[in-house]
Formats: sequence, C-alpha cells, structure tokens
Amino acid sequence: MSLEAIETASEDELRALQLHRLQWSVRHAYENVPHYQRMFAERGVHPGDLRTLDDLAKFPFTTKADLRANYPFGMFAVPRERISRIHASSGTTGKPTVVGYTANDLDTWANLVARSIRAAGGRPGDIVHVAYGYGLFTGGLGAHYGAERLGCTVIPMSGGQTQKQVQLIRDFKPDIIMVTPSYMLAIADEFARQELDPRECSLRLGIFGAEPWTDAMRTEIETTMGIDALDIYGLSEVMGPGVANECLETKDGPVIWEDHFYPEIIDPETGAVLPDGELGELVFTSLSKEALPIIRYRTRDITRLLPPTARSMRRMAKIIGRSDDMMIVRGVNVFPTQIEELILRLPALTPHYLLELTRDGRLDNLTIHVEAETCPTSTAAASTLGEAVKAHIGISADVRIAPPGSIERSVGKAQRIRDNRQRS
Ligand code: DLL
Repeated sequence: MSLEAIETASEDELRALQLHRLQWSVRHAYENVPHYQRMFAERGVHPGDLRTLDDLAKFPFTTKADLRANYPFGMFAVPRERISRIHASSGTTGKPTVVGYTANDLDTWANLVARSIRAAGGRPGDIVHVAYGYGLFTGGLGAHYGAERLGCTVIPMSGGQTQKQVQLIRDFKPDIIMVTPSYMLAIADEFARQELDPRECSLRLGIFGAEPWTDAMRTEIETTMGIDALDIYGLSEVMGPGVANECLETKDGPVIWEDHFYPEIIDPETGAVLPDGELGELVFTSLSKEALPIIRYRTRDITRLLPPTARSMRRMAKIIGRSDDMMIVRGVNVFPTQIEELILRLPALTPHYLLELTRDGRLDNLTIHVEAETCPTSTAAASTLGEAVKAHIGISADVRIAPPGSIERSVGKAQRIRDNRQRS
C-alpha cells in the first residue's frame, strides 16, 4: 500500500505547504465574501498580515451563527453557477446551516475520504456498506464518493430499515461498514434478535463517526462485531466526513489531514490559542476549499492536538463532547462520554443509555437510564454505577436500570441527553 507523499512528508514541508495554502485561502475568503471583509475590517487585519502560521491567531473566528446570518448562500466565495452540490445540517434550532462545494471541492473531498478509508485499512476491491444517512447530511454521500474513489464496491444502504441492513450484510458480504457507532449497536441487536452471531458475518472493519464515542465503546463494538473499529471525524462546515481519520496500525486518535485543514485548539472562554496537548475547543481553517472557505471555524468540539505517529500530520484525541452537550450538574461539568465509559465497565449493563436532566427547585438532577444486559435486571449494577459516577465525576446521579430493548435506538446520531429542566 503506498501512501500519498504528503502523508509522510517532513514537518518543514508540511508547514510550508500549509502557509502557502493558508495565505491563498484567507485572501480568497476576503476578496469574495463580504462577511469576511467586514469581520477583518472590524479586527483591523488584512490577508497581507499573514506572514507565518502563527499570524492566523490575529484573525477573527467564524461560528455557526455567522453561517446562519448569511443564510442560505451568503458565505459562498464563487458564483452560484460554480456550485456543484449543496449540503445542510439541520441542527436543533432555527435555520439549517448551508454548505456548498465546487467540482474541485467534491474531488478533494472524495480523495480525502478515500485516504481516510485506506488509513482505516480499506483497500481497492473491498465492499463498503454505507449506513450513514444519504441526503442533506454529509455522511452518506461523503462516504459513498470516497469509497468509490478508493476503488471499492459501494452499497448505498443509508440509515434505517434495520432488518434489511442485516439481510444485505449477510447476502452481499461487505468487508467494511461506515455508520454511526450508535446505529452499529442497533444493527448488532438485530443480528442477536434473529439469533445470528454478528462475529460470523463478513465485516472486517467499521469506520465510525458523526457523534462522540469512547474507547470503551470501541472495545464493546469490536468484541460484539468481531471487527476493527476506527474513528472518522468531520463536520459539514469544514467539509463533511474525512477531515480526520484514525490509522489501523496505531488506533490512537484521528489523524487530521493537515494539508487541507489547519487545526488550532483554543480556550473556549478567552479565545486564546493553546499549545498542543492542552484540552480546549477545536478550530479549523480550510486551506483549499473554493466554494466555502472557512476561517477559524469554532467547532465546539472539545479535544486536544497530539503529535504525529503513523503519518506526518498531527492527531486529535477522541472528542470528549461538544460544548453544547456539556451538562452542568450542581456546578460540575459533565460530558455524556464520561458516563459512557463508566457504564461500559460494568458487564451487567449495555451501551444503550439516556441522560435525563430535571430541576428540583434550584438544583439540577441527573438520572441515568441504562439498559441491562439481561432480564431480570440487576439492581446491584445501579448502585455500583452510581458510586462510580460519584467517585470519578463527583456528582450524585439517580441510576435507573431499564429492561433490554427499552431505550430508543438511533438510526443516525444518538441523542444522549433529555433536558427536562424548566427554562426560566
Ligand atoms: O457528522 C460529518 C460526519 C459524517 C463525520 C459521518 C463522520 C462520519 P455534521 O452533521 O456537520 O457532520 O456534524 C458534525 O458531529 O462537530 C462533532 O460534534 C460530531 N462528530 C463528527 N464526527 C465525530 C467523531 C458530520 N468521530 C459534528 N467523534 C462535529 C466525535 C464527531 N464527534
């Protein structure tokens, strides 16, 4: 398997390419998008001020609110006729965030997803079952064209129809599945319901992303399915899936494809750039995108940047969570992934869980609903989990053990939090 030259380039070579592309991207955004002209003017910066990579810190951030304010096509840097495709993410409130791609952007995207699948251990000739949703969501089509580009046979199954997912996996014998980790679990359940052992199916690899998942979940999926589970990261505003992908040989966090996306970690409160290794909010600047150049986009994803291992580019630690999903329970910050890790330490419990927040006077209460492995349910596991949450996270939670199959399954991104607090 031969890698692209840039995947093994020296750091100097990579930084030189990044600076060259960054200068182009910032100028392209400035010259063609009124929003960037205004933002740069307010900050008193000009594309000419970008002489080193560190100079990027002088430039303003872009947020989801900026994309919404310029709905639908106001952030595009090319005439509409040059846009080959539109995607959009629904979000939970308000207008969708709209993104666009030129033919060159689609080409780059397919190449980067092909690179991602190859990093995960996929090879030309493999059969790839795509169970990410097709449509405005970037998951399905993004995975699809990347797998085709690599030279794979693609099954564009999309999400849902879980029985049919199992049937096609049994009949078409795919080597690779691309799906959210939570929907993989639902498919695994369907195998079990049909009294089939998923470890005996043809799948060799799973490429999972679009939502946070822990290393404990990786072990759970690898054991249940008998496959290697790799992490793919991305977001529509920056491109879609394939901004970063984990390598099979190391499984140590997604490698950021730094020749196309420049990462920074910032302090979410102050906006200051933090050194590599520190925990903070991930920020991306696109280096090659034509239709939607994005400058210092605040992803709201909390992680850290790690040094290169299997490739010349830096890695990101698995995402702890989105800042929007951070619960503050009696003053303590908690992400669902922290609770997921503790649940998965207990064999009597399953990875199907839901976190419910309620308010009792002025105090927040957290109830963890988690499914038991078997019926009748274990009450011992409830108190063990409650103690673990208290010891490791420092909050008291009410643990309710639910019977097998009772917590709603997702077909795409799992909704882990139900917030029933009265808003004042
Ligand atoms: O979820 C793109 C994607 C599709 C990535 C398929 C991977 C696989 P959006 O709908 O714009 O795009 O949502 C992006 O999802 O900011 C993260 O919060 C979360 N996310 C995506 N990948 C991961 C991952 C797609 N591997 C948002 N781990 C991002 C944790 C992830 N969170």
